[in-house]
Amino acid sequence: MSAREANIYDRYTAGARVNHWANAIIMICLALSGLSLFHPATFFLSDLFGGGQWTRIIHPWLGIAGTLTFLGLFVRFVRFNLWNRDDNAWMGSIRHVLSGEEEKVPEVGKYNAGQKIVFWVLSILIVLLITSGLALWDSMFREYTTIDQKRLAAVVHAAAALGLIMTVIVHVYAAIWVRGTVRAMTRGSVTGGWAWRHHRKWLREEAARQR
Ligand code: HEM
Repeated sequence: MSAREANIYDRYTAGARVNHWANAIIMICLALSGLSLFHPATFFLSDLFGGGQWTRIIHPWLGIAGTLTFLGLFVRFVRFNLWNRDDNAWMGSIRHVLSGEEEKVPEVGKYNAGQKIVFWVLSILIVLLITSGLALWDSMFREYTTIDQKRLAAVVHAAAALGLIMTVIVHVYAAIWVRGTVRAMTRGSVTGGWAWRHHRKWLREEAARQR
């Protein structure tokens, strides 16, 4: 049976899904280990990583792995996240999106403007996190930065991490809120009804391509 007859459309390859979930797991471990290093009240989280010393050792390596896996997502998806005129129209009707009156919202391609904003905010925050993180990685690069630069890096790192945690919460909430979205990243496919409702322009293109 063709995808069109089954009314199911491919959205993510297996490679993209493995890349996404590897990144998501690493990012959650990064947030938990980072929080444990941030404040005594959350130090108990370091037990998850074998105690304080192990957490301090592991966290920067997780940062490298998180950056590389995000880079994989960036390369895969950047072309679908470029801003265009449709996105201005979507932003203009944001009140209809929030009130669930999606039939009043202009047709959307693979991603809507909200998803694109999340994509770019994540990208910027990850650049800030990796650069400030390297400046703070004394066991590797102590001599490359001054004390003042390390102080600045500590503030940037904590602020960007808070931003990343909040952005990921928004991302997960949106994925669950828009029913039928999570299966895109678990099974790799979506129903025609979901695509018609939320990404009609993308559906038209896919219906022609996946026939
Ligand atoms: C941990 C729970 C997470 C869940 C349940 C989740 C769920 C999803 C789902 C369902 C999609 C597909 C959306 C669609 O096709 O319309 C998606 C896409 C995506 N996710 Fe996640 N995600 C999670 C964590 C993360 C994390 C931690 C990151 C990165 C920091 C991330 C980055 C992305 C990116 C870049 C995309 C592609 C969207 C785009 O390019 O605009 N996700 N996610």
